[in-house]
Amino acid sequence: MVIKNLTLYNFRNYENERFDFAEGLNVLTGKNAQGKTNCAEAVFYLCTGASLRIRHEKQLIRHGQEFARISAVAQSRYGDLTLEAKIFENKRELYVNGNKLARAVDFLGNMNSVFFSPGELRLIQDGPDERRRFLDISISQTSREYCVALNRYQRILTQRNNLLKERDFQAVLETLPVWDEQFALYAARVVKKRREYLKELSPLASEAHAFLTDGAERLELGTDGKYPADEDGVYEKLFREISSSRERDMRLGFTSVGPHRDDIRVTINGVDARGFASQGQARTAALSLKLAETELFRRIAGEPPVLILDDVMSELDLPRRKKLLERVKGLQCILTCTHAERVLYGKESNKIRIQDGKILRGIKT
Ligand SMILES: Nc1ncnc2c1ncn2[C@@H]1O[C@H](COP(=O)(O)OP(=O)(O)OP(=O)(O)O)[C@@H](O)[C@H]1O
Ligand SMILES: [Mg+2]
Repeated sequence: MVIKNLTLYNFRNYENERFDFAEGLNVLTGKNAQGKTNCAEAVFYLCTGASLRIRHEKQLIRHGQEFARISAVAQSRYGDLTLEAKIFENKRELYVNGNKLARAVDFLGNMNSVFFSPGELRLIQDGPDERRRFLDISISQTSREYCVALNRYQRILTQRNNLLKERDFQAVLETLPVWDEQFALYAARVVKKRREYLKELSPLASEAHAFLTDGAERLELGTDGKYPADEDGVYEKLFREISSSRERDMRLGFTSVGPHRDDIRVTINGVDARGFASQGQARTAALSLKLAETELFRRIAGEPPVLILDDVMSELDLPRRKKLLERVKGLQCILTCTHAERVLYGKESNKIRIQDGKILRGIKT
């Protein structure tokens, strides 16, 4: 998968700008607050229909404008593909090859990308939410089936939680069994898919981490080991757990069991990375996860995703930077940074300089 060009119209601080990308390394440079991350965010939005930085779509629309438009031409092994997102304050329209989509889920995975930004440190240092979010976005990009199951699960969870807050104790207790069967059904699908995915991802992450650290560190991923190995056992355990936690959940006012509480275990040299890894170590570990994701997407989709590395270099020492660049050779990569050192990126990379939401053309970098 290669993104050939990207047009941003009233998106963030861009008025109307077109980026032409090369197949290999594209380096977006510019001072702080010029629009580098905005461009990276737009590419990711076209891949997933979502941005990791916003609470409301409105934030994506250039101040004072009615709507934003992001469009791109990508080349996949099946031919060229056009993707477009028109974002209004309270709605959006998504198009693939000019056809308007009825369901947002169909926007997912037409073009795959892996996005790394400084915030990804949270993946290692923060609580389980971040790791679940990583898995959910990652799996959803390659499996719409998972995305649908996850959405259903989340809907049931929200409705169950609303029910738990109601005052009529007896009525709630009578209604819950109906919900809990559905709950366990979708929960089991989510758990099984996450587990399968993690099994594939884990050796790839270990390998990537060993590469980046020249064998000095050993990274391992695992589940928190809550579920039995056999498929039917997962459903049964979830159903048993949810059924026996009804009264407790009613007291708490929320659902206290289920995959929305699961975690991924990340260890470096056998020690839990959370609360132990240094800043640079955590960054390298997060990067290893993303490189593993890149390789897994390549295997699943039959072609590599677009790799977006936003501000990744700032906390890596020189040997790790060089290792990273060596690693991404052969992939299409969009990398943002404030300084495009020639020694590091070489002459052949496609350098794009950005200033105040515009590409500076005809200036040597
Ligand atoms: N909806 C919007 N309308 C207009 N400007 C916006 C909008 N959203 C964000 N901006 C502006 O876009 C600018 C560039 O943001 P961006 O995050 O892309 O910077 P950057 O080049 O990645 O900088 P850094 O090197 O600090 O990461 C910011 O100054 C921000 O105020
Ligand atoms: Mg930025």
